[in-house]
Amino acid sequence: MSKTYDIGVLPGDGIGDEVVREALKVLDAVQSVYGFTTRREHLPYGADHFLATGETMPDAAFDRIRDMHAVIFGAIGDPRIEVGKLEFAIIAGMRHKLDLYVNLRPVKLYHESMCPLKGKKPEDIDILFLRENTEDAYAGIHGTTKKDTDYEISLQQMVYTARGTERIIRHAFELAQKRGPKPGKSKPQVTLIDKANAVRAQDIWTRIFAKVAKEYPGIDTDHAYIDAACMWMVKNPEWFDVAVTTNLFGDIITDLGAMLIGGMGIAASGNIHPGKVSMFEGIHGSAPKYKGQDKASPLATILSMALLLDHVGEAQAAKDLEATVAGLIQSGQIRSLKAGEHKCSELGTMVHDALLERARATR
Ligand code: IPM
Ligand code: MN
Repeated sequence: MSKTYDIGVLPGDGIGDEVVREALKVLDAVQSVYGFTTRREHLPYGADHFLATGETMPDAAFDRIRDMHAVIFGAIGDPRIEVGKLEFAIIAGMRHKLDLYVNLRPVKLYHESMCPLKGKKPEDIDILFLRENTEDAYAGIHGTTKKDTDYEISLQQMVYTARGTERIIRHAFELAQKRGPKPGKSKPQVTLIDKANAVRAQDIWTRIFAKVAKEYPGIDTDHAYIDAACMWMVKNPEWFDVAVTTNLFGDIITDLGAMLIGGMGIAASGNIHPGKVSMFEGIHGSAPKYKGQDKASPLATILSMALLLDHVGEAQAAKDLEATVAGLIQSGQIRSLKAGEHKCSELGTMVHDALLERARATR
């Protein structure tokens, strides 16, 4: 009997609908090649649902998701809604309530034409970012007093727990070990990125990183403060292999990373709790101005689908899907990811067809 996976489908706002539709189109092709099936459950949450019902994302939805294998997610953000409301309830909601402590964000260049840096080639940019996904400034502890007076005070707490810090660092070492050394290197490397020289609370990262590193003598370690890391990312991206960082710094540096590989239209992510239901999304936002125009690139969501497949145990399908996207870029069939260069639906169909073609050729 073929395997069946329960997949939650949460398109969200803006371009979410169209990019998720294309990722599901690609999933249809993947299923037909690899012989598994999916039960897909639509999750209607987002701005329209909130405006119609007053509901952001109810506890019952999280309970449903806990019984699934994975969720494919589009984007959240709508100008009609108070800033941060739905982001906190739905994106942070899933990350926190499902304890998705690993935010996996690969920064991998498929073709030099996609990179704005002079002379950088695919072998120079292949970084696996691990962003801690449940703590730091995202813990939700903030407040304001004496609002709109000269004496206003606004606070937001950066929170680091020993357990939360250790589990993401450990996962980085585990992934580095699994990934093995980069070409030309004898060992894989994990870089810790923090700002412990100024944010002294991040000393906990320094200490736990050193402690965990001792257990992995086969892995090289490196360290960069976040400001310097941004500089090195542009100057010498080839220095990075696996990089682990705090939630807020990880948010920022992975947007920079996205721009090195073709832009927000191709940057994928997984919000993962190893061994449990996890959520997969492009790192881009909802881009409301492109909503419904068939202009946005679905490749970020399609590559997030590849991460989803890997997570549920379809590693070969995941690899082949990524290779299919890479192949379309390397062959020049996908010329650019600028909005409007290719239609959203066209890109989905290209990947769908190329995946089937690849399967026919190799089987
Ligand atoms: C991301 C996004 C979110 C974040 C926003 C929408 C809350 O920028 O997933 O990178 O800051 O984590
Ligand atoms: Mn972000």
